[in-house]
Amino acid sequence: MQHLIDTNDFNDQQLIELMHNAKAFKNQMPSKSLENRLLITLFFENSTRTRSSFEVAAKRLGISVIHLDPSKSSTKKGESLEDTFENLAAMEPDGVIIRHEYNNTPKKLADKALTPIINAGAGNNAHPTQALLDCFTMMEHFSLKTPQELKGKKIAIVGDIVSSRVASSGIRLFTRLGMEVVLIAPKPFMPDNELPKYENLADVIDKVDVIMSLRAQLERHKAPIFEDYNEYAKEYCITKERMAERNILLLHPGPVMRNIDISDEMLEDERCKVLEQVKNGVYVRMAILKLILSD
Ligand code: CP
Repeated sequence: MQHLIDTNDFNDQQLIELMHNAKAFKNQMPSKSLENRLLITLFFENSTRTRSSFEVAAKRLGISVIHLDPSKSSTKKGESLEDTFENLAAMEPDGVIIRHEYNNTPKKLADKALTPIINAGAGNNAHPTQALLDCFTMMEHFSLKTPQELKGKKIAIVGDIVSSRVASSGIRLFTRLGMEVVLIAPKPFMPDNELPKYENLADVIDKVDVIMSLRAQLERHKAPIFEDYNEYAKEYCITKERMAERNILLLHPGPVMRNIDISDEMLEDERCKVLEQVKNGVYVRMAILKLILSD
């Protein structure tokens, strides 16, 4: 049974096939090739992009989608997540897409081997579909045919890295592909790992091909880390002054905190591909659903 808990669930050949299919979907919408399939989405945390993108992707492939709103589900009567999942799996869906606050929830459900699990974001540990759509957006920008051709490109991840599942999955995928990953953050936002670290973007900006800006994940902070994010923005906001005329691709998974993560002006700049990432997210998720549900 094929799950997607993190991007290492896909081997190199599957990654190539996935990116190829996403590009084909972007070039030409498919016929509804997965009619009669049914997915259940279960989002225990808020989402705009991931949930809608999965639903759009599924519908474009002819897949029916049932959304269970956890706030209206029997988890509110004390039913455990495991029991909720087993009851949903008893209805024989072709897969369950789940977002949850705990890092290990998708894996725990996948281990039951009842139905394919697609991780739509878990704690600060993994957001594989975001990493895959970021990979696709970089490939498209650099006109590459395979993800492995990203080898040698340098990406700076800027912001609240320690709280970010986007960064966690991205770092694992990008380093696997041979990209150079550098981390730019103030100390409280910096994770403990072996990657090169800087407090100032200015120290590396002349050497990077891509900047991925991240939002401060206030909802994951046990206590406020910075009193005033306008002060933080003076060092870490991606502005036109910081970017100058450099030919750097600017990414952000969203939601963007305007003028804290990226300035209004830079969001309008053609180097900023935030909405292209969202568009690509549909095609990449279509390719993921094809890969998992055709299995
Ligand atoms: N990028 C992302 O995961 O956005 P949402 O939280 O809106 O799904």
